[in-house]
Amino acid sequence: MPYRLLFVCLGNICRSPSAENIMNHIIEQAGLAEKIICDSAGTANYHIGAVPDSRMTAAAARQGITLRGQARQFTKKDFEDFDLILAMDRQNYRDILSLDPKGLYGYKVKLMCDFARHHSLEEVPDPYYGGREGFDRVITLLLDACEGLLETLNLSDDDRSKT
Ligand code: 4NP
Repeated sequence: MPYRLLFVCLGNICRSPSAENIMNHIIEQAGLAEKIICDSAGTANYHIGAVPDSRMTAAAARQGITLRGQARQFTKKDFEDFDLILAMDRQNYRDILSLDPKGLYGYKVKLMCDFARHHSLEEVPDPYYGGREGFDRVITLLLDACEGLLETLNLSDDDRSKT
């Protein structure tokens, strides 16, 4: 069974689709496409069905990444369907955990920035109301965090039981 990762932000049109597509890019380069499945979702319902924000798509393209996908909302079922759920900021983290009042799945939910090696930011900043540099910063930060995440998963050989 592949390992399943879910990236979560507020709207699922900027940060989390970027994380999903960057992670897919890195996974393909590492030859691990068969071992890891990525998806993304938003805690809010505002943008369900929307493609990624054009400003985010442009920033990703400047780094050679194509953004694919359509926004969907995070649901309780995701707690069972995914092995690891990566929140882009603390509000996303709290909103995810609020759907798990019994605390059954908290162990699966982590902050994305905890995996960054070269950045000390603790959250992926919401770029929605800012300028182009904010979108570029999201991509740079997520490239770092996705690399760190992949190393942490330790799926580079055939023995998944090690993870
Ligand atoms: P995201 O960015 O959570 O990274 O997808 C946002 C998208 C939409 C809104 C805010 C942030 N909004 O307020 O509509």
